[in-house]
Amino acid sequence: MEHLPDTITADIIKSFKLIVGNDYFFADAESLQHYSRDETETLSFQPQVVLQPATPQEVSAILKICNEHRIPVTPRGAGTGLTGGALPHLGGVLISTERFSRILNIDERNLQVTTEPGVITEVLQRAVAEKGLFYPPDPASKGSCFIGGNISENSGGPRAVKYGVVKDYVLNLEVVLPTGEIIWTGANVLKNATGYNITQLIVGSEGTLGIVTKIVLRLIPLPKYDLLMLAPFGSLEKACEAVSAIFRAGYTPSALELMEINALKIVSSMVDSHAMPVNDQIEAHLLIEVDGNDTEVLLKEMEQIAAVLENYEAGEILFAEDAQQKEELWKLRRKVAEYVKMAGYTIEEDAVVPRAELPKLIKGLKVLGKQYDFDAVAYGHAGDGNLHIRIKKEGIPNSYQNPEMDIIVRELFVLIKQLGGTISGEHGIGLIQKGFMDIIFEERQLQIMRDIKKVFDPNNILNAGKIFD
Ligand code: LAC
Ligand code: ZN
Repeated sequence: MEHLPDTITADIIKSFKLIVGNDYFFADAESLQHYSRDETETLSFQPQVVLQPATPQEVSAILKICNEHRIPVTPRGAGTGLTGGALPHLGGVLISTERFSRILNIDERNLQVTTEPGVITEVLQRAVAEKGLFYPPDPASKGSCFIGGNISENSGGPRAVKYGVVKDYVLNLEVVLPTGEIIWTGANVLKNATGYNITQLIVGSEGTLGIVTKIVLRLIPLPKYDLLMLAPFGSLEKACEAVSAIFRAGYTPSALELMEINALKIVSSMVDSHAMPVNDQIEAHLLIEVDGNDTEVLLKEMEQIAAVLENYEAGEILFAEDAQQKEELWKLRRKVAEYVKMAGYTIEEDAVVPRAELPKLIKGLKVLGKQYDFDAVAYGHAGDGNLHIRIKKEGIPNSYQNPEMDIIVRELFVLIKQLGGTISGEHGIGLIQKGFMDIIFEERQLQIMRDIKKVFDPNNILNAGKIFD
């Protein structure tokens, strides 16, 4: 670090309290402990103070002080991130966005919503669904994550395969810059060719360029129906081959998820559900959804997709009969990350390769597992070529700054790069992947990113040491 942070003096603390009010200033042991973690492996770093501002002006006033005194600031949403984006690894001030919890306006005429960042993603989805509108990006943590965090990480989720990820819905953002100025990045329009696209630069910038305080999203009409089916495969590789065959046959499911059987075994036993069959003949399941406005068309599509799957040795396909069964199948899928982590698979990778290369990724992963003696389970958004790989290695709960894991992760990432892929599809780089950016980018490319960071944050106070050093 160029500048060592000033200590947070009594005077600075007084100013913080004046800005947010005594009730929203925290420095007690319990709060510092709570805000020291997100969902990233088992990592924990305590901030010196936690602030909960409620307006852009308050955020601005805090950032001005931190900028002047070179105090590290870590912005945080709901703390569901998986790469350490919200971990205050340099101490300093943690700014929680949890009081930015209002949906400000649902514009039914233009199919747009303006919201604050601390709204839970599923709450936002339900609010717009009540008006017949659809905000598709649905990370597995949708019941607890914040929309602001989704913007910061450019999140995806199962429906990305048909509807795209967060970036495809963000029209305009109000952002407080690290120097304290408040700007809007774009306009509330569906097309915009007016200069550099600052909006999309902020999306996925992991809280390193500014703190988002208002979000304008485009919405689409809510599809009326969806159908869900579950197909078991005796071979994981065949399941992966079937994935690209579905698209080649002319179908775009609204979700195409893969669950390796070992992941499913853990989740099924933990939630005590038998909704997805688990036996020795099955290596993986594909969970496939189609949606639209005409059930007959959807039924036909399901049958045609099932016919494709048969060419890849799928077992008996289960068609979900009602909303409850669908919900149970989805619950099993969504709980994977949380439960396999509890079962000791603490390290999560977010590989994404061109879809047709999935079988090679899986094969390579198994070879590495044998070579380096680790257990891995793969699951996730196979339709996007985006597989989450959960790793369990005896005695190593964290990959960050662990030389033994570094060697393994590096080999995996080199394979991903060779397959034409990249190391994060939707979880971001944060703290724990930054050491591997050299596999994906050359120095010149990284330098451009660092230069952009400097323009926004000349004193390197905001989420410093994330994405790159
Ligand atoms: C999932 C999260 C971890 O897909 O991205 O389950
Ligand atoms: Zn995911």
